[in-house]
Amino acid sequence: MSDITKQFDAINPADVPAKVLRSGDKLPTVGLGTFGSDRFTHDEIAAAVKDAIRLGYRHIDCAAVYGNEKEIGQAIKEVIAEGVCTREELFITGKVWNDRHREVEKACQETLDDLQMDYVDMYLIHWPFPNYHAPGCDGDSRNPDSRPFSVEEFMDTWKQCEALVEAGKVRNIGTSNMTIAKFDAVWDLMKIYPAVNEMEMHPCFQQQELFDYCMSKQIQPIGFMPIGSPTRPDRDVAEGDAVDIETPAIQAIAKARGVHPAVICIKWAIKNGQVTIPFSVHPAEYLSNLKSSFDNPLTDEEFASIKSCDCGSRLVKGQVFLWEGAAHWKDLWDEDGVIAQ
Ligand SMILES: NC(=O)c1ccc[n+]([C@@H]2O[C@H](COP(=O)([O-])OP(=O)(O)OC[C@H]3O[C@@H](n4cnc5c(N)ncnc54)[C@H](OP(=O)(O)O)[C@@H]3O)[C@@H](O)[C@H]2O)c1
Repeated sequence: MSDITKQFDAINPADVPAKVLRSGDKLPTVGLGTFGSDRFTHDEIAAAVKDAIRLGYRHIDCAAVYGNEKEIGQAIKEVIAEGVCTREELFITGKVWNDRHREVEKACQETLDDLQMDYVDMYLIHWPFPNYHAPGCDGDSRNPDSRPFSVEEFMDTWKQCEALVEAGKVRNIGTSNMTIAKFDAVWDLMKIYPAVNEMEMHPCFQQQELFDYCMSKQIQPIGFMPIGSPTRPDRDVAEGDAVDIETPAIQAIAKARGVHPAVICIKWAIKNGQVTIPFSVHPAEYLSNLKSSFDNPLTDEEFASIKSCDCGSRLVKGQVFLWEGAAHWKDLWDEDGVIAQ
């Protein structure tokens, strides 16, 4: 018995509900986020991945740009060697970063090598354009090579992802940070449709229209920053950003139930029909997040009261991806239904 399972009761992974993807694969509704920004070291995050799997997590959300796939790969290898689970019982997501859109096969192979795996269960295009910025850069920084979304460029990247499925290196492919207008522009050109769209979703930013669109297209929405990333670095906090865990509706439900407001955010995501990928390196926190997928769900009244928290507070504005001539970060999100050029 590992130290962590002496301290905490592990969850039976079979108790965690899963969504069935268009491929038939099952995606557990709560996964562990692995972006620690500059708050946590790669080793701390890898240790969390290892203990989270021991405690019942089977879905891990990785990305090359998080810089920690080597450490996570080693952690997963060790936990499999311990006999906690098999590789097949895990659902591992990887993502191609913006500077590798012209060499997706190579980027994916590097991820597979780092993760010490023959395949990943899901591979996402992290952002729908190749605009690169250095990790941790200031919000005001711009790359002169950045350009607006291009159907041709996106489809070139997507076709490389489709080839990865055909080569057996990836079981499912999907998108992240897409918009309805961008989906509409590329949908008829795709041979394999996206299994998921990873998108920012939390009570203060519910993205109902995009969520409904994804559901209508059999694209499973995966919500990132489900708690509103309350402790993200100051450089990623803008004036006017809402704080989900401080909203009266969420605080009232949390108080009545005697739990942290973060837990209410996760239960809201689950009842809303999302897959959600909260981050934490603290076992009590990530265990309560996983348990929230099936334990004591929100009532219809509680769920309805959280509806009122939505104030369109997008936290990941993406301004570092803007191109010369773009007027505003809103140009990245096609809010008027037209792809900004
Ligand atoms: N596709 C994309 O473009 C994209 C963008 C952003 C994020 N993501 C993914 O989404 C994941 C989650 O986003 P995020 O980490 O920014 O935000 P988040 O999950 O909304 O918030 C994480 C923070 O919430 C606190 N927390 C978590 N569980 C808690 C609990 N049960 N009780 C109390 N506090 C709790 C922790 O704070 P403390 O550490 O202070 O305890 C943790 O650092 C990332 O790790 C990444 O995998 C994807």
